[in-house]
Formats: sequence, structure tokens, C-alpha cells
Amino acid sequence: MLHSLGTQREKINYMKILYTIKNSKKHGKGLFAKCHIKAGTNIVEYIGKKITKAQSDKIAEIQLKKAQKNKEEGQVYIFTLNDKYDIDGNVKHNKARLMNHSCNPNCDTDIIDDKIWIRSFVDIRKGDELTYDYGFSFDPEDFRDHVCKCGSRKCVGFIVTENDWKKLQKHLLRFVKNCKKAN
Ligand SMILES: C[S@@+](CC[C@H](N)C(=O)[O-])C[C@H]1O[C@@H](n2cnc3c(N)ncnc32)[C@H](O)[C@@H]1O
Ligand SMILES: [Zn+2]
Repeated sequence: MLHSLGTQREKINYMKILYTIKNSKKHGKGLFAKCHIKAGTNIVEYIGKKITKAQSDKIAEIQLKKAQKNKEEGQVYIFTLNDKYDIDGNVKHNKARLMNHSCNPNCDTDIIDDKIWIRSFVDIRKGDELTYDYGFSFDPEDFRDHVCKCGSRKCVGFIVTENDWKKLQKHLLRFVKNCKKAN
């Protein structure tokens, strides 16, 4: 198993066999399967700095301000570890930071001993982009800031976790109803 492979560097080198980094139609760069990947494979660890929720809020605020000025900058690479801590994955050697969201993902995440693993939950064909559900909660104030371009048939148009799709749908239906009333 991967846990017995040794040092962090050895693990990263092993992982490199499974994916390659390329431009993505969804956004910027993305990770793509370099070979057939079986369901249940730990593909890449989301590595970075362990930070408190307060530090996390500050970093997110700064990054979002940058993003408002320049769309190519200011991506937030923070991943929830537990109730107290997050991982700031904004470091070059964290290749998992480049994974994009999809409404029909092929990977999910698993936290083992305070380590975040990206794992395939279906068989993935060589060349397919590796994606996961970012887990963004539905927020009526800012969901429009996160338009989804995953291109899947299941796409709901915004980066919102599948758990909140009903809330999103209700909100959009109410919006359409109000528009009809106004016209
Ligand atoms: C952590 S970055 C992902 C890596 C990114 N592709 C890059 O090259 O830096 C997260 C950002 O990527 C973009 N993104 C990820 N998935 C997306 C999707 N399905 N549709 C549109 N934008 C997406 C959003 O701007 C999101 O805030
Ligand atoms: Zn989508």
C-alpha cells in the first residue's frame, strides 16, 4: 500500500505515474489520468500548511480580493481538514491543488491520519480529467460568483455541492417565478 512506500518525495514520485497536468476546458490547469485508474485508488495527497480557521478566513479574504481584480489570480486553495484546522494547499509541490470541480466527479476525498487523499470512486479511463465535488455549500449571496463549466450532463451551472442541489433548485425556481410576476 502507499503508506508503506516511504518518504513524502517517494510518494509524490509514485503518484506522478497516475496523472499528468494539462490545460483544462473547465478552468486553467487540471489533472488528467495518465493510465487507467481503478476505483478506490488513492491518487494524490492534498498537501500544504496546517492552519487555524481564523488564519483560513484571512487568507480566503485576501485571495478573493486579488481574484476580483484579476480573474487569473487569487485562487483559494484551502481544504477543510476538521472543525479546528484547514490545509492551505497554495504551495507549488501540492499538485492536487490543480484539480477542478465537477458536478459529475470521478474522485472524492478521504481523510486518513490528518492527511487528505484524493481517491477515485469509479474506474477512470486514461486521459479523463480527475475531478471532485468541491463541497461548496449553497449560499444565496455568492453562488453566482462560482459558475461551473464542468461540461457534464449533470451540471447545475454553479459550483455547489450535490448535497445542496435541492436548495439551489428551489432558489432558482423562486427567482424565475418572481421574474415572471414582475413582467
Ligand atoms: C483550486 S483552483 C483549481 C485549479 C485551477 N484550474 C487552476 O489552474 O489554478 C479552484 C478554482 O478553479 C476554478 N474551477 C474549478 N473547477 C471549475 C469548474 N468546474 N468550472 C469553472 N471553474 C472551475 C474556480 O475558479 C475555482 O475557484
Ligand atoms: Zn458543473
